Amino acid sequence: MEISNEKIIKEIFESRAEVVEGHDPWRYGRDLAEATDKVEIDWICRKLPLSPGKRLFDIGCGTGRHSLEIARNNDSLKVIGCDFVEKNIDFANSEKKRLGIDNVSFYCSSATNFSDDAPFSKCDIIIAIGLIQYLTSENELFDFVNCCSEMMYDDGLLLLKHPLSYEDTFVLDYHRDEMDTRYISSYYGMKDIMRVFKEKFELMSIARTFTKKNVGDLLKSIERDERAKQMWILFQKKRKTV
Ligand SMILES: C[S@@+](CC[C@H](N)C(=O)[O-])C[C@H]1O[C@@H](n2cnc3c(N)ncnc32)[C@H](O)[C@@H]1O
Repeated sequence: MEISNEKIIKEIFESRAEVVEGHDPWRYGRDLAEATDKVEIDWICRKLPLSPGKRLFDIGCGTGRHSLEIARNNDSLKVIGCDFVEKNIDFANSEKKRLGIDNVSFYCSSATNFSDDAPFSKCDIIIAIGLIQYLTSENELFDFVNCCSEMMYDDGLLLLKHPLSYEDTFVLDYHRDEMDTRYISSYYGMKDIMRVFKEKFELMSIARTFTKKNVGDLLKSIERDERAKQMWILFQKKRKTV
């Protein structure tokens, strides 16, 4: 829980970005990626209050697959994505231009200090889809939580999609053959997540992201580690008590 791998993880994602084609074809392969994108974007658009005029921040936005679709489906919402890999941000910006989506913007920043360069001071909703497993030290997680809290209005919502460990937190560190890169990831359990989030955020709900009902037989290819399941974890920012 104490080792910061931010520099190594940045290098891993930078090297993937060198060969990235489309939004993230190596995640599960193109077909699986399309099926999972659909489930994720549908859930976000149905479950989050994306009302006109609100601001949504996508931290660790990668190539912007969620930000772009959410902005396209909700044209009165303002969407901002950030990621620490410049090439991802360049790709997201070129997609924004190609698709002519005006209510989305992107900038390069780390998830641990994204408030420093943010183009606004507060937002209503933050999403972090497949991010916190790459914040492998407690300090990085605390910095992320503090940044989220600082950037949000009271009662703002924070949505994580995370491979939640059923038991204690465990770390994966191996060579991922299909991407020819190292893979380091912290599959946090709920106890460790709550220890870091509970001061600033209240837990609202936890739900399975992928089920037999929404992805059919693809489920076994998506959830490959039996110790964890992809979950939506929804928090609400606590009001300050006086
Ligand atoms: C698994 S990808 C998910 C990307 C995107 N949310 C999606 O679902 O398509 C994780 C992303 O988080 C970014 N990332 C990892 N650690 C980060 C950090 N400390 N600060 C900013 N971005 C980070 C990576 O560059 C990568 O784009």
